[in-house]
Amino acid sequence: MTDQTKDRVVIFDTTLRDGEQSPGATMTHAEKLEIASMLDEMGVDIIEAGFPIASEGDFRAVSEIAKQSKDATICGLARANLKDIDRCWDAVKHANSPRIHTFIGTSPLHRAIPNLDMDQMAERIHETVTHARNLCDNVQWSPMDATRTEWDYLKRVVEIAIKAGATTINIPDTVGYTAPVESADLIRRLINEVPGADEIVFATHCHNDLGMATANALAAVAGGARQIECTINGLGERAGNTALEEVVMALKVRGDIMPYETGIDTRKIMNISRRVAAVSGFAVQYNKAIVGKNAFAHESGIHQDGMLKNAETFEIMRPEDVGLAATNIVMGKHSGRAALRAKLHDLGYDLADNQLGDVFVRFKELADRKKEVYDEDLIALVNAGLDDE
Ligand code: KIV
Ligand code: ZN
Repeated sequence: MTDQTKDRVVIFDTTLRDGEQSPGATMTHAEKLEIASMLDEMGVDIIEAGFPIASEGDFRAVSEIAKQSKDATICGLARANLKDIDRCWDAVKHANSPRIHTFIGTSPLHRAIPNLDMDQMAERIHETVTHARNLCDNVQWSPMDATRTEWDYLKRVVEIAIKAGATTINIPDTVGYTAPVESADLIRRLINEVPGADEIVFATHCHNDLGMATANALAAVAGGARQIECTINGLGERAGNTALEEVVMALKVRGDIMPYETGIDTRKIMNISRRVAAVSGFAVQYNKAIVGKNAFAHESGIHQDGMLKNAETFEIMRPEDVGLAATNIVMGKHSGRAALRAKLHDLGYDLADNQLGDVFVRFKELADRKKEVYDEDLIALVNAGLDDE
């Protein structure tokens, strides 16, 4: 259900393009199709399915993802040349809703690579965006390394791309260089100063080299961006991209200060996170926000006791909201008597106080030797105690 009081933020997932560009994260054709259909089902608005000119395999994957797509817009990436753009269009055109995403590096370092001066690059942008727009009415343009591009030049090329027909302007922080205050300010200034900016959508695309990708993306939204580019588990080049699960849950949990909604069914987050970890071979770190093994786990006695009384004491979101069955009360050396009693109750043992006291002593001895005490260990401790009686 849409909340009329909230602005909608479009979620653009690039797990299959920027995510797959992480060294070693290559997925098979069948895996890409599977992940694309999971993304579509969870309510991702735009799926960047690949880079069609990169290889025959990428072209085939993007074409088939386009053919199988239901609600999501399917986007392909193309460099700033006519051949790339034609190839991209040939792949995405099968979608109910196709998008061409074309880009060129606009910062001084990136301009040096094709050896174009500012005017030549401006001309190339005009020509390629116009060409893309003649093929498709949904065109995204990105000035790669925007956050290290001279302000006057950035303004100039964004205006050219808008005039040539781009419907979304993405502002990439390609090397994870920006910071939240600057990220918000950059989008705000572009919206205020570039003619035609109010006619199009601004997107934010952040990398995580300084660990600020999520903060920078949310700051860009505060500055006026209405599309966030992100990946499942934050997969992506080097330190990765903004993590989809983080921005979506941040907007959900802190709607009081960030009144924006997404179309994501958050209960599907855990499932797709596990699947992306499995197919990419990139395990999720234990303490990763939202989807890490420990994100909803508690071991210390004080925390477990608080959790048993009121889950909100130490959890700001419900595990069910991200697709987890329940909070994980981990039994270890920091656990207290209340947690042990509750755990044993769940396992079918309601012990008298003196029995519990006895099991608790032996549990602590075991927990000092073992990192985690499993349900089977507890059952063995209880049974050994009962046998002794
Ligand atoms: O990080 C980046 O600049 C990119 C562009 C291709 C949008 O991924
Ligand atoms: Zn990127």
